[in-house]
Amino acid sequence: KKAFPAAITIFGARGDLTRRKLIPALYNLFIENHLPALFEIFCVDFQTVDEAAFKNDLLTGVNDFSRSGKAEPAKWADFSAHISYLQGDFTKKETYLELKAKIEDFEKDGKQRGNRMFYFAVAPRFIEVIAEALYTRKLCVNKTHDRLVVEKPFGTDLDTARKLNRFLAKRFSEKQIYRIDHYLGKETVQNIMAFRFANYVFEPLWNKSYIDHIQISVAEEVSVGKRGGYYETSGALRDMIQNHLLQLLCIVAMDCPGEYKAEAIRDAKTKVLKSIQPFTTPQVFKNVVRAQYTAGEVGDEARVAYRQEAQVSPESNTETFVALRMAIDTPRWDGVPFFLRTGKSMTRQSSVIVVQFKESPHKIFKDDIVPNRLIISIQPELEISLLFESKVPGLQMKLVPVEMDFTYQEAYTESLPEAYEALLLDVLQGDATLFMRADQVEAAWKVVMPILDAWKKYPAKQLQFYESGSWGPAAASNLLKPYAKEWFRLP
Ligand code: BG6
Repeated sequence: KKAFPAAITIFGARGDLTRRKLIPALYNLFIENHLPALFEIFCVDFQTVDEAAFKNDLLTGVNDFSRSGKAEPAKWADFSAHISYLQGDFTKKETYLELKAKIEDFEKDGKQRGNRMFYFAVAPRFIEVIAEALYTRKLCVNKTHDRLVVEKPFGTDLDTARKLNRFLAKRFSEKQIYRIDHYLGKETVQNIMAFRFANYVFEPLWNKSYIDHIQISVAEEVSVGKRGGYYETSGALRDMIQNHLLQLLCIVAMDCPGEYKAEAIRDAKTKVLKSIQPFTTPQVFKNVVRAQYTAGEVGDEARVAYRQEAQVSPESNTETFVALRMAIDTPRWDGVPFFLRTGKSMTRQSSVIVVQFKESPHKIFKDDIVPNRLIISIQPELEISLLFESKVPGLQMKLVPVEMDFTYQEAYTESLPEAYEALLLDVLQGDATLFMRADQVEAAWKVVMPILDAWKKYPAKQLQFYESGSWGPAAASNLLKPYAKEWFRLP
């Protein structure tokens, strides 16, 4: 398939995302020959910078953050010849006129109308401003070829998300809008679909008759660091649960879509979100634990309390940790609790999904039997393992739980593409499977709204504290009762 020329524009080119994720991803796509022969990357931002210095800064980003390690000078030179910097105010029409001229020049050279990608790596307040300008200046008009990529946060609540959706829908078609959730691009997350629907061992058991409960936990070692300003307006519920964890939940809980196509998959996921039982205010305080980290140590690193972080109020009640229990009202999941947890400044990074199966009804052994457990580890371990009972070699019938493991390291020699590589390539190819549709984002906001509302009404009620470097407050473990004593932990 011949790839269309690609004019890629990044708004917010001086930001962290561009340096850490977008350029390294594009560079890796380039060196692995996934980018079209003709492409150009237009980097737009407010600041005046020398282009050579700008590119050098991008290079250090690649060297520090790219999975392929340090860039080879010749390859970087080839790649960076496709990058140009355009200093421009996002609110001024000149910026867009200049950008348009550049894109059209590039397309003239290629002798055909290629794809245009406009990446919004900007603060939320600029999304509408830029979208409006792209629309009125006719930069993003072709429904088949022109695409917008919008980063999270997509709105700050249901209302603002709806408004933003409506705003975009008036100017672009839904097919042109790619709402990114980078968790969906992670290799190990994409593999869950393959694991569930290409194999027939687990799917017949994937329901309330055999599954006791499910845990989805995304523990982070990092603190809020320099992002205190943003984080104060967000908190863990908005920053992680509303998007990443609910998306993981969708993949784990969805029914098999009719086909592996964007609309069918997104329908199946949306159905999950719409089937989550909404909380009343008293249920919020019973089923949702919010907490904030205090000072402590992570590894050997001393950490300050969240309230002492830069740009954070010393009286802040913003949560850096959330654990919750939810239920999905479908015939498949009726009565099965789903436990979600995420937090910053925890012991270590660990994202795992645990499917806890029920006890065997056959009670013929004397030993205590540990029920089967499937562990899907997303990061940093990349593995899937199944816990089952086995007889210890010897003359007695003694049983112990053992593990059957699949690890990427042993199974494959390929290195894993970064989420952003997969997602950017999908945008260039017009594949929205791993992106959020308007109704999906709104359904996800609907799920968290009762929690946001309850917390707004009672700002400090039941706010817990946990030491940096710990696994979170005791209340989060209590939430699991009687299904488990503790959140599952990899050694
Ligand atoms: C981002 C959040 O969306 O995801 C961050 O804003 C968080 O707060 C990050 O640290 C986690 O992503 P990853 O890929 O490092 O697990």
